Amino acid sequence: MAQGKRKGIFRKILILLFAVFVIMQFSRIDMVNPKIEPAKDFIALTKPPADIEKMIRSACYDCHSHETNYPWYANIAPVSWILGNHIEEGREHLNFSLWANYSEDKANHKLHECEEEIEEGKMPISSYTWTHGDADLSSEQKEKLAEWFEDQMTGEDKGHDHEEH
Ligand code: HEC
Repeated sequence: MAQGKRKGIFRKILILLFAVFVIMQFSRIDMVNPKIEPAKDFIALTKPPADIEKMIRSACYDCHSHETNYPWYANIAPVSWILGNHIEEGREHLNFSLWANYSEDKANHKLHECEEEIEEGKMPISSYTWTHGDADLSSEQKEKLAEWFEDQMTGEDKGHDHEEH
């Protein structure tokens, strides 16, 4: 008798959880990429060598540009919310599609940040590299990419690579 009752509660909890999951699906993330202006794009402007371009596109552009490729699970909440948040915040902090809008100072600062974030292993975000094998760069690749970013700095900032900002 008591066991039957417990089973009943368990089933009710499952139904409730399922209902919550279904309701969550109504809140979808916006998967429309803003229009791309090639003249403002970081890669178009800096013309990196092919191997560097490939690394930037596969390890950074999904979150830091308007050329995001959304995976199938971007349709499933709550994973989609985490993903949408990464993209929104990523673009806010650094948007390679709007590179030409940055002042020289700001661009230099972002380049330096790129070098640091890669060297420290903070970028690309680990939850991203688990799901995107081609973004999981080897330590040699990371070193090469970080150095390349640093080399793009212009004017007085060039070479001041280990200064604190
Ligand atoms: C899965 C999404 C994602 C990927 C992929 C990704 N980033 Fe980020 N990035 C973010 C988010 C979110 C932030 C802001 C929050 C933070 O700093 O953790 C950020 C912040 C940054 C910042 C700090 C910008 C600032 O000035 O505050 C830099 C620099 C950066 N990323 C560089 C890169 C580079 C370079 C790559 C590729 C090697 C990359 N990111 C890949 C999501 C991502």
